[in-house]
Amino acid sequence: MKKILVTGGLGYIGSHTVVELQNSGYQVIIIDNLSNSSLDVLEGITNISKTPPAFERLDLRIKADVADFFKRNQDIEGIIHFAASKAVGESVENPLLYYENNLNTLIYLLQECNAYGIENFIFSSSCTVYGEPDSLPITEDAPVKAATSPYGNTKQISEEILKDTCSVSALKAIALRYFNPIGAHETAEIGELPAGVPQNLVPFITQTAAGLRKELSVFGDDYPTEDGSCIRDYIHVVDLAKAHVIALQRLLSEKNETQFEVFNLGTGRGSSVLEVVNSFEKTTGEKLNYKIVERRPGDVISVYADTKKANKVLGWKAEKTMEDALESAWKWEKKIRNIS
Ligand code: NAD
Ligand code: WQD
Repeated sequence: MKKILVTGGLGYIGSHTVVELQNSGYQVIIIDNLSNSSLDVLEGITNISKTPPAFERLDLRIKADVADFFKRNQDIEGIIHFAASKAVGESVENPLLYYENNLNTLIYLLQECNAYGIENFIFSSSCTVYGEPDSLPITEDAPVKAATSPYGNTKQISEEILKDTCSVSALKAIALRYFNPIGAHETAEIGELPAGVPQNLVPFITQTAAGLRKELSVFGDDYPTEDGSCIRDYIHVVDLAKAHVIALQRLLSEKNETQFEVFNLGTGRGSSVLEVVNSFEKTTGEKLNYKIVERRPGDVISVYADTKKANKVLGWKAEKTMEDALESAWKWEKKIRNIS
């Protein structure tokens, strides 16, 4: 059984990926410092896969602890690195926190890869690197635009760090550029649990429907789109998780000689904010309170992926629908709020 380190494995995307890795026969060890997650997630993962993953509570910012971890775990064959801070607004207010947490952690891990000959590395990147794209759908060779937040900048710099490291070592890395992950596991054992007021659309919708928020603010209906609201490519988190297993298999395969690759992970379809709201109401039968407000500063108008590269090279395609995602997100929200 190949042993895979999943950093940030108790977080939203990491936990779903751990389940898919275990379902595919990998032995998983998770590192997480619980800064944006909790130990309950371990229980949720175990309830689904019936196998408790190994877990170490460790802060990847502490270089000596990272070195000690690898000294004790020399049989790791691949790393999927999710651990990072991800709130765009917070990154503007506290850039050093973001540069430290998102860059130092990557550097320390790569140093250990060099030290122990670990050659397979998957990195969580983001469609944020494209900024406001010149054309749609967005292909991987679209220009990376000057980042509008320290968070976005950490993703751009991280990709550069990986590329440079791959060019001088045996490291093979894949950066997966996620579009907008939504939804939860169909069992409602794991899902998204944002700290404080949700910044992202779908958790705000489900919390509003659950009565935790008075109403959803739709940020702008005067954009140059069909209904005036912004367009994004919302991808079910379980589809996203499965793509990590496939990317890992590509890295582990003897045939793969590419050292650094990037892939878009999206559905290839754009949905407007109002379409998501309507779809939520239709799928769940819940009436959603919402009002149109001013545009949110920094929002791009329209972003959706060209997924041909991932379809062709990885042989991966998003399979679940928007309805599946919203239904699972609602099931999860109801479970954690004890709503029947
Ligand atoms: P998340 O916050 O749910 O998960 C990240 C996990 O990493 C958390 O459990 C947190 O406790 C842990 N962590 C953070 N810093 C750590 C450290 N120093 N040491 C150990 N553990 C640490 O976030 P997520 O939504 O699952 O995102 C995972 C990755 O995907 C991140 O790199 C994020 O930037 C990227 N990403 C997320 C989205 C999104 O919309 N959710 C989109 C694009 C990219
Ligand atoms: C989606 C749409 C909002 C909340 C962010 C990060 C990006 C990436 C994914 C990590 C937008 C609208 C939202 C609300 C709304 N993360 N909206 N009311 O902005 O596409 O991307 O998450 O890499 O870097 O910036 O996602 O979910 O915040 O917004 O109308 O209360 O929903 O304006 O059009 P976004 P989001």
